[in-house]
Amino acid sequence: MLNRSVLLGIGESFSLQWVDTIPFFCRYFAGTFFVVYLKEIDAGTITRGEIMRQIYLDNSATTAVLPEVAAEMQKVLLAAYGNPSSLHTMGVEAERIKNAARRFLAEACGGRSEELIFTSGGTEANNLAVKGVARRLKRRGRHLITTRVEHPSVLYACRALEEEGFTVTYLPVDGAGCVLLDALEAALREDTLLVSVMHVNNETGTVMPVAEIGQLIKEKAPETLFHVDAVQSFGKLPVSAAAWQADLITISAHKIHGPKGCGALWRRAGVPLAPLFHGGDQEAGLRPGTENMAGIAGFAAAARLALAGREKTATGLARLKEFFLRAVSEAIPDIMVNSPAKGAPHIVSITFPGVKGEVLVHELARSGIYVSTGSACHSHRADPSHVLLAMGRTPKEIEATLRFSFSLLNTEAELEYTVEKLQQAVAHLRRLTRRK
Ligand SMILES: Cc1ncc(COP(=O)(O)O)c(C=O)c1O
Repeated sequence: MLNRSVLLGIGESFSLQWVDTIPFFCRYFAGTFFVVYLKEIDAGTITRGEIMRQIYLDNSATTAVLPEVAAEMQKVLLAAYGNPSSLHTMGVEAERIKNAARRFLAEACGGRSEELIFTSGGTEANNLAVKGVARRLKRRGRHLITTRVEHPSVLYACRALEEEGFTVTYLPVDGAGCVLLDALEAALREDTLLVSVMHVNNETGTVMPVAEIGQLIKEKAPETLFHVDAVQSFGKLPVSAAAWQADLITISAHKIHGPKGCGALWRRAGVPLAPLFHGGDQEAGLRPGTENMAGIAGFAAAARLALAGREKTATGLARLKEFFLRAVSEAIPDIMVNSPAKGAPHIVSITFPGVKGEVLVHELARSGIYVSTGSACHSHRADPSHVLLAMGRTPKEIEATLRFSFSLLNTEAELEYTVEKLQQAVAHLRRLTRRK
């Protein structure tokens, strides 16, 4: 097997011994050829000149950046690289790019341009929403509500607030991972500052009834603010501040074929927020620091593509999911599908009793198939998924669970191949378990 470091090693020794004796133009062409060769190698592991097939089914963790998106980012990196705070022409051009992106993304959430704050991603936007509201409004109350199945960026932000003297109610969910509205109604108090509920769960694809939740909050506790983490739904399902009666919405670029490290918090005008950082006037002082301009341009480009084809994407993803579920159910006995039938179109969580999920991930990776055991942010931790635990699954069942998540870059042929490899791996691992 020939890998990149071996080739780099060859390149280095080659240059050390020969380079100075070769005329410049020869070196230039040889160098260009070598770089192109390395780029091809980067596209996949090379086994005796053959590129291994790669099937990426971990699109909830992150997605591939689309070429159109990369092209927009490259323009900003190489040409329009001014600082939007600068007063000269290049600064003004950067400001124009940022404002166009801001307007598009704010309107995509159902809001106005000045209501959107760029952040380093969904994690920061969730922290800003939860901590920002709590800290700014602490004189009015000290109670927050969220669910047991939120992304860690909400759960850990809530835990940090508990250490600051706030009280948090973590709502239970049913067997499908859906929050119980009666429990929410019972938990709402006069001093509840914020309710934070995700739209689509990143491990199971469960869709929360955010419109009903918004309605309930406005009826029972009109002073309470409502935050929706829409990281997994933005670009796939409709996102609407008005329909949800939401006050804050989190979105992130890298789940919609945009770059990592860029997200945004939409915040209805007038919603009070304390910044997490201090040190500049950017983003109305709510997110100081020089903006990630390439990320912002890439985010807007990805969102334009995603929203232009949103319904087509949702239909295509639903078709892939249905195809995959049917094929897996026919090929492999005794499985448990954790995702609800009416879940988001791109996420499927399946338990394969008798098999360790982690072993299965590595087994599939050997065939170039990339899936995960749960959420990417938890993949290096041994404790069982808090989402599946809240849904009533046992630690043993959770250990045997895989998450498959799709994008429109996937094909039915890829899924067929995946099911074939999955069937072989599950049968093999189950045989080994029985023998023990
Ligand atoms: C539901 C949800 N919220 C928030 C995040 C965090 O977003 P980011 O990776 O942009 O920090 C993720 C990422 O997986 C997510 O799935």
